[in-house]
Amino acid sequence: MRKLASHSERGINRNSLPFKLYEKAKKFGTWDPRDIDFSKDKADWQSLTEIQRNELLLQVSQFYGAEESVTIDIMPMISAISKVGYFEEEMYLTTFVFEEAKHTDFFNLFLHHIGENRDLSHLPVPAWRRLFHEVLPETMEKLNYDQSPKALIDASVTYNMFAEGVLAETGYFYFYECLKSINKMPGLLEGIGNIKRDESRHIGFGTFLIQRLISEDPSLYDYAVEKMNYLMGTIRAQFAQEMVYQGFDPAIKEKLAKFAATQYQARMEVLARAKNKKFDEIYNLSETEIGVY
Ligand SMILES: [Fe+2]
Ligand SMILES: [Fe+2]
Repeated sequence: MRKLASHSERGINRNSLPFKLYEKAKKFGTWDPRDIDFSKDKADWQSLTEIQRNELLLQVSQFYGAEESVTIDIMPMISAISKVGYFEEEMYLTTFVFEEAKHTDFFNLFLHHIGENRDLSHLPVPAWRRLFHEVLPETMEKLNYDQSPKALIDASVTYNMFAEGVLAETGYFYFYECLKSINKMPGLLEGIGNIKRDESRHIGFGTFLIQRLISEDPSLYDYAVEKMNYLMGTIRAQFAQEMVYQGFDPAIKEKLAKFAATQYQARMEVLARAKNKKFDEIYNLSETEIGVY
Protein backbone atom coordinates (compact mmCIF):
# COMPACT_ATOMS: atom_id res chain seq x y z
CA MET A 1 0.00 0.00 0.00
CA ARG A 2 1.28 3.46 -0.80
CA LYS A 3 2.33 5.58 2.15
CA LEU A 4 0.91 9.10 2.25
CA ALA A 5 2.31 11.84 4.50
CA SER A 6 -1.22 13.11 5.07
CA HIS A 7 -2.36 9.68 6.33
CA SER A 8 0.60 9.11 8.64
CA GLU A 9 1.39 10.06 12.21
CA ARG A 10 4.18 12.27 10.96
CA GLY A 11 1.86 14.30 8.74
CA ILE A 12 3.15 17.28 6.82
CA ASN A 13 5.99 19.05 8.60
CA ARG A 14 5.04 22.71 8.42
CA ASN A 15 8.24 23.73 10.24
CA SER A 16 10.54 22.04 7.78
CA LEU A 17 12.69 24.20 5.55
CA PRO A 18 11.18 22.95 2.26
CA PHE A 19 7.68 23.71 3.57
CA LYS A 20 8.82 27.21 4.58
CA LEU A 21 10.18 27.70 1.06
CA TYR A 22 6.82 26.55 -0.30
CA GLU A 23 5.03 29.11 1.92
CA LYS A 24 7.39 31.84 0.74
CA ALA A 25 6.87 30.91 -2.90
CA LYS A 26 3.07 31.14 -2.51
CA LYS A 27 3.54 34.68 -1.23
CA PHE A 28 6.35 36.06 -3.40
CA GLY A 29 6.37 33.80 -6.46
CA THR A 30 3.11 35.07 -7.86
CA TRP A 31 4.33 38.24 -9.61
CA ASP A 32 3.14 38.54 -13.19
CA PRO A 33 5.52 39.59 -16.02
CA ARG A 34 2.53 41.21 -17.72
CA ASP A 35 2.28 43.76 -14.89
CA ILE A 36 5.70 45.16 -15.77
CA ASP A 37 5.78 48.39 -17.77
CA PHE A 38 8.24 48.00 -20.65
CA SER A 39 7.40 51.29 -22.39
CA LYS A 40 10.63 53.05 -21.32
CA ASP A 41 12.64 49.92 -22.20
CA LYS A 42 11.44 50.16 -25.77
CA ALA A 43 12.68 53.76 -26.11
CA ASP A 44 15.89 52.99 -24.18
CA TRP A 45 16.64 50.06 -26.48
CA GLN A 46 16.62 52.40 -29.48
CA SER A 47 18.90 54.85 -27.69
CA LEU A 48 21.64 52.25 -27.08
CA THR A 49 24.60 51.91 -29.44
CA GLU A 50 24.71 48.87 -31.72
CA ILE A 51 27.57 47.38 -29.65
CA GLN A 52 25.52 47.83 -26.46
CA ARG A 53 22.43 46.29 -28.06
CA ASN A 54 24.44 43.29 -29.28
CA GLU A 55 26.03 42.76 -25.88
CA LEU A 56 22.69 42.99 -24.08
CA LEU A 57 20.92 40.78 -26.61
CA LEU A 58 23.54 38.06 -26.12
CA GLN A 59 22.99 38.17 -22.35
CA VAL A 60 19.20 38.15 -22.73
CA SER A 61 19.28 35.33 -25.29
CA GLN A 62 21.36 33.22 -22.90
CA PHE A 63 19.03 33.91 -19.97
CA TYR A 64 15.91 33.29 -22.09
CA GLY A 65 17.23 29.92 -23.32
CA ALA A 66 18.57 29.02 -19.88
CA GLU A 67 15.17 29.64 -18.25
CA GLU A 68 13.49 27.39 -20.82
CA SER A 69 16.16 24.73 -20.30
CA VAL A 70 15.82 24.73 -16.52
CA THR A 71 12.01 24.57 -16.82
CA ILE A 72 12.48 21.34 -18.79
CA ASP A 73 15.38 20.01 -16.71
CA ILE A 74 13.76 20.38 -13.27
CA MET A 75 11.15 17.74 -14.18
CA PRO A 76 13.37 14.66 -13.49
CA MET A 77 14.31 16.23 -10.12
CA ILE A 78 10.64 16.56 -9.14
CA SER A 79 10.01 12.99 -10.15
CA ALA A 80 13.12 11.73 -8.29
CA ILE A 81 12.19 13.62 -5.11
CA SER A 82 8.71 12.14 -5.36
CA LYS A 83 10.15 8.63 -5.75
CA VAL A 84 12.41 8.96 -2.69
CA GLY A 85 9.35 10.13 -0.74
CA TYR A 86 10.38 13.64 0.33
CA PHE A 87 6.87 15.11 0.26
CA GLU A 88 7.50 18.63 1.66
CA GLU A 89 10.31 18.99 -0.89
CA GLU A 90 7.95 17.91 -3.65
CA MET A 91 5.36 20.47 -2.52
CA TYR A 92 8.01 23.16 -2.80
CA LEU A 93 9.17 21.94 -6.22
CA THR A 94 5.68 22.45 -7.67
CA THR A 95 6.32 26.20 -7.24
CA PHE A 96 9.84 25.85 -8.61
CA VAL A 97 8.74 24.65 -12.04
CA PHE A 98 6.00 27.31 -12.22
CA GLU A 99 8.57 30.01 -11.48
CA GLU A 100 11.07 28.79 -14.09
CA ALA A 101 8.29 28.80 -16.69
CA LYS A 102 7.40 32.32 -15.62
CA HIS A 103 11.00 33.48 -15.99
CA THR A 104 10.93 32.18 -19.58
CA ASP A 105 7.63 34.02 -20.04
CA PHE A 106 9.28 37.22 -18.73
CA PHE A 107 12.18 37.19 -21.23
CA ASN A 108 9.81 36.32 -24.06
CA LEU A 109 7.63 39.30 -23.17
CA PHE A 110 10.62 41.62 -22.80
CA LEU A 111 11.96 40.71 -26.26
CA HIS A 112 8.52 41.15 -27.74
CA HIS A 113 8.18 44.63 -26.21
CA ILE A 114 11.53 45.88 -27.48
CA GLY A 115 10.72 44.49 -30.94
CA GLU A 116 13.35 41.72 -31.09
CA ASN A 117 11.40 38.79 -32.45
CA ARG A 118 14.10 37.11 -34.53
CA ASP A 119 15.76 33.73 -34.05
CA LEU A 120 18.41 34.12 -31.33
CA SER A 121 19.75 30.57 -31.47
CA HIS A 122 23.09 31.59 -33.05
CA LEU A 123 23.96 34.01 -30.22
CA PRO A 124 24.91 31.92 -27.14
CA VAL A 125 28.62 31.20 -26.69
CA PRO A 126 29.95 27.58 -26.87
CA ALA A 127 30.26 27.40 -23.05
CA TRP A 128 26.54 28.15 -22.77
CA ARG A 129 25.71 25.45 -25.34
CA ARG A 130 27.90 22.95 -23.54
CA LEU A 131 26.07 23.56 -20.27
CA PHE A 132 22.47 23.91 -21.44
CA HIS A 133 22.50 21.52 -24.41
CA GLU A 134 24.67 18.80 -22.87
CA VAL A 135 25.87 18.85 -19.25
CA LEU A 136 22.71 20.04 -17.50
CA PRO A 137 20.11 17.92 -19.39
CA GLU A 138 22.33 14.81 -19.19
CA THR A 139 22.88 15.25 -15.44
CA MET A 140 19.21 15.88 -14.73
CA GLU A 141 17.91 13.07 -16.99
CA LYS A 142 20.06 10.60 -15.07
CA LEU A 143 17.62 11.08 -12.17
CA ASN A 144 14.98 9.29 -14.23
CA TYR A 145 16.67 5.97 -13.46
CA ASP A 146 19.07 6.81 -10.59
CA GLN A 147 17.85 8.53 -7.42
CA SER A 148 20.97 7.72 -5.37
CA PRO A 149 22.43 10.43 -3.09
CA LYS A 150 25.35 10.89 -5.52
CA ALA A 151 23.02 11.39 -8.49
CA LEU A 152 20.96 13.92 -6.48
CA ILE A 153 24.15 15.77 -5.52
CA ASP A 154 25.36 15.82 -9.14
CA ALA A 155 22.02 17.29 -10.18
CA SER A 156 21.73 19.85 -7.43
CA VAL A 157 25.35 21.03 -7.63
CA THR A 158 25.07 21.45 -11.41
CA TYR A 159 21.61 23.03 -11.42
CA ASN A 160 21.31 24.94 -8.12
CA MET A 161 24.86 25.65 -6.98
CA PHE A 162 26.52 26.24 -10.34
CA ALA A 163 23.96 27.29 -12.99
CA GLU A 164 21.77 29.27 -10.59
CA GLY A 165 24.14 30.05 -7.73
CA VAL A 166 27.19 31.13 -9.71
CA LEU A 167 26.32 31.76 -13.37
CA ALA A 168 22.85 33.29 -13.08
CA GLU A 169 23.78 35.38 -10.01
CA THR A 170 26.78 36.74 -11.92
CA GLY A 171 24.45 37.54 -14.83
CA TYR A 172 22.08 39.53 -12.59
CA PHE A 173 25.09 41.45 -11.29
CA TYR A 174 26.03 42.25 -14.90
CA PHE A 175 22.58 43.70 -15.67
CA TYR A 176 22.58 45.88 -12.56
CA GLU A 177 26.15 47.10 -13.05
CA CYS A 178 25.63 48.02 -16.71
CA LEU A 179 22.09 49.36 -16.70
CA LYS A 180 21.49 50.88 -13.29
CA SER A 181 24.32 53.40 -13.63
CA ILE A 182 22.98 54.70 -16.96
CA ASN A 183 19.39 54.55 -15.71
CA LYS A 184 18.10 52.47 -18.62
CA MET A 185 15.82 49.45 -19.16
CA PRO A 186 13.78 49.75 -15.91
CA GLY A 187 11.32 47.00 -16.94
CA LEU A 188 14.12 44.55 -17.59
CA LEU A 189 15.70 45.37 -14.22
CA GLU A 190 12.36 45.09 -12.40
CA GLY A 191 11.80 41.60 -13.81
CA ILE A 192 15.35 40.58 -13.01
CA GLY A 193 14.84 41.77 -9.42
CA ASN A 194 11.76 39.51 -9.16
CA ILE A 195 13.58 36.59 -10.77
CA LYS A 196 16.54 37.04 -8.42
CA ARG A 197 14.24 36.72 -5.40
CA ASP A 198 12.63 33.54 -6.83
CA GLU A 199 16.10 32.19 -7.54
CA SER A 200 17.20 32.75 -3.95
CA ARG A 201 14.58 30.12 -3.00
CA HIS A 202 15.74 27.78 -5.78
CA ILE A 203 19.36 28.03 -4.65
CA GLY A 204 18.16 27.67 -1.04
CA PHE A 205 16.40 24.44 -1.95
CA GLY A 206 19.56 23.05 -3.55
CA THR A 207 21.66 24.09 -0.57
CA PHE A 208 19.19 22.36 1.74
CA LEU A 209 19.05 19.17 -0.34
CA ILE A 210 22.84 18.85 -0.54
CA GLN A 211 23.23 19.67 3.16
CA ARG A 212 20.65 17.06 4.03
CA LEU A 213 22.47 14.40 2.00
CA ILE A 214 25.85 15.36 3.50
CA SER A 215 24.42 15.18 7.03
CA GLU A 216 23.34 11.60 6.27
CA ASP A 217 26.70 10.68 4.69
CA PRO A 218 29.55 13.16 5.40
CA SER A 219 31.76 11.62 2.68
CA LEU A 220 29.42 13.28 0.17
CA TYR A 221 30.85 16.68 1.09
CA ASP A 222 34.12 15.96 -0.77
CA TYR A 223 32.09 14.56 -3.65
CA ALA A 224 30.05 17.79 -3.92
CA VAL A 225 33.17 19.98 -3.68
CA GLU A 226 34.87 18.00 -6.43
CA LYS A 227 31.84 18.34 -8.70
CA MET A 228 31.61 22.09 -8.13
CA ASN A 229 35.34 22.59 -8.71
CA TYR A 230 35.12 20.63 -11.94
CA LEU A 231 32.29 22.87 -13.22
CA MET A 232 34.14 26.04 -12.17
CA GLY A 233 37.37 24.90 -13.81
CA THR A 234 35.75 23.85 -17.08
CA ILE A 235 32.47 25.59 -17.93
CA ARG A 236 32.85 28.76 -15.83
CA ALA A 237 36.45 29.17 -17.07
CA GLN A 238 35.26 28.69 -20.64
CA PHE A 239 32.52 31.32 -20.14
CA ALA A 240 35.08 33.81 -18.84
CA GLN A 241 37.16 33.28 -21.96
CA GLU A 242 34.37 33.45 -24.49
CA MET A 243 32.22 36.32 -23.26
CA VAL A 244 33.23 39.69 -24.71
CA TYR A 245 32.18 42.95 -23.06
CA GLN A 246 32.69 46.15 -25.03
CA GLY A 247 29.45 48.06 -24.74
CA PHE A 248 29.07 49.37 -21.22
CA ASP A 249 31.79 49.13 -18.60
CA PRO A 250 35.42 48.46 -19.62
CA ALA A 251 36.16 46.99 -16.19
CA ILE A 252 33.11 44.70 -16.11
CA LYS A 253 34.98 41.50 -16.98
CA GLU A 254 37.20 41.75 -13.89
CA LYS A 255 34.21 42.74 -11.73
CA LEU A 256 32.29 39.68 -12.95
CA ALA A 257 35.23 37.35 -12.30
CA LYS A 258 35.49 38.70 -8.77
CA PHE A 259 31.75 38.41 -8.21
CA ALA A 260 31.64 34.81 -9.51
CA ALA A 261 34.51 33.88 -7.18
CA THR A 262 32.61 35.39 -4.22
CA GLN A 263 29.48 33.43 -5.15
CA TYR A 264 31.49 30.23 -5.41
CA GLN A 265 33.05 30.87 -2.01
CA ALA A 266 29.66 31.58 -0.42
CA ARG A 267 28.14 28.33 -1.79
CA MET A 268 31.07 26.24 -0.58
CA GLU A 269 31.00 27.74 2.90
CA VAL A 270 27.32 26.87 3.32
CA LEU A 271 27.97 23.28 2.23
CA ALA A 272 30.94 22.97 4.61
CA ARG A 273 28.66 23.84 7.54
CA ALA A 274 26.56 20.74 6.85
CA LYS A 275 29.39 18.37 7.73
CA ASN A 276 28.91 18.79 11.47
CA LYS A 277 25.14 19.15 11.52
CA LYS A 278 22.53 16.54 12.28
CA PHE A 279 19.69 15.85 9.88
CA ASP A 280 17.09 17.43 12.22
CA GLU A 281 19.08 20.64 12.52
CA ILE A 282 19.20 20.99 8.74
CA TYR A 283 15.55 20.11 8.31
CA ASN A 284 14.56 22.87 10.70
CA LEU A 285 16.87 25.61 9.44
CA SER A 286 15.26 28.97 8.76
CA GLU A 287 15.16 30.40 5.23
CA THR A 288 17.49 33.25 6.17
CA GLU A 289 20.13 30.80 7.42
CA ILE A 290 20.48 29.48 3.88
CA GLY A 291 20.37 32.90 2.22
CA VAL A 292 16.72 33.10 1.10
CA TYR A 293 15.14 36.53 1.36
FE1 LIG B 1 14.79 30.95 -13.34
FE1 LIG C 1 15.81 28.85 -10.87
